[in-house]
Amino acid sequence: MDLNEAIASRRAVREYTAQAVDAPTIRGLIDAALQAPNAVNQQPWTFTIVRDQSLLDRISHDAKSHMLATLAAGPHSGHFRSLLNDPNFHIFYHAPVLILISAIAQGPWIVEDCSLAAENLMLAAYAAGLGTCWIGFAQGFLNTSDGKRLLGLPAAWVPVAPIIVGHPKGVPPPVSRKEPEIRWVG
Ligand SMILES: Cc1cc2nc3c(=O)[nH]c(=O)nc-3n(C[C@H](O)[C@H](O)[C@H](O)COP(=O)(O)O)c2cc1C
Repeated sequence: MDLNEAIASRRAVREYTAQAVDAPTIRGLIDAALQAPNAVNQQPWTFTIVRDQSLLDRISHDAKSHMLATLAAGPHSGHFRSLLNDPNFHIFYHAPVLILISAIAQGPWIVEDCSLAAENLMLAAYAAGLGTCWIGFAQGFLNTSDGKRLLGLPAAWVPVAPIIVGHPKGVPPPVSRKEPEIRWVG
């Protein structure tokens, strides 16, 4: 697939079929993530793959409670609160796979490094006919000791990018972008 087409057409996918994503395909997405630019080539990322649906259900449940308990007031807090209070809302949308990119090392750019790896992974997934969505709702909980314990993550790791992956049920509608503010200096 043409790179510009992938960049322009990738969308967050929130509806998945029950079809599994096989291990070689997941490994291919990780290989794409590994090619991301990263500070001093430290490659601080680790990849935790979760396919156990009962574990994803448990994390969804606990992450919702954590978000409700810690949610700060803001422009989206009312919308978030009503979603999180809905017992039918599953933060992972019942996707067959969660790939959590966590930083293993300390450093000033670990979040940038893991985020760039995540974008590579999402674009590669799109080119392979798969859907993805970064699940920010999971981040706060996965960074707690309870969240790390559920996934067996060492305490020092920093979960950065929880990305769900699966076969999309359909094509998501276009999502608009604002006109950018661009300042040409000099
Ligand atoms: C850091 C981050 C956190 C996000 N968290 C969520 C989330 O918790 N749930 C969700 O449905 N989408 C989440 N998204 C997806 C965004 O809502 C989506 O990327 C945005 O609306 C733009 O749509 P597009 O990706 O289809 O272009 C997140 C995206 C990013 C980058």
